[in-house]
Amino acid sequence: MLVCQNRTCLKQGAAAVLAAFQAEPIANYGVTGTGCMGQCGSGPMVRIVPDEIWYSQIQPEEVSLIIQHHLLGGKPVKAMLYPKFHS
Ligand code: FES
Repeated sequence: MLVCQNRTCLKQGAAAVLAAFQAEPIANYGVTGTGCMGQCGSGPMVRIVPDEIWYSQIQPEEVSLIIQHHLLGGKPVKAMLYPKFHS
């Protein structure tokens, strides 16, 4: 999965979101900090690949929800999806 680490997302707390994912490694889902994803202002942005599911405004305390429900359970967390791409 990709966690934006560019300026705007960093201001919104993206470093802590990346750290939260790195603290709970999941098989089949590597974690990488990336440059800007072109969605500045809706961050911190998280993009799950290869699923192509985007999450917006993710806070560190919400990371475990994504891990449990999506990465381990196979069901995206609807309430946290990025509405621009998942309406
Ligand atoms: S800085 Fe994160 S999407 Fe642009």
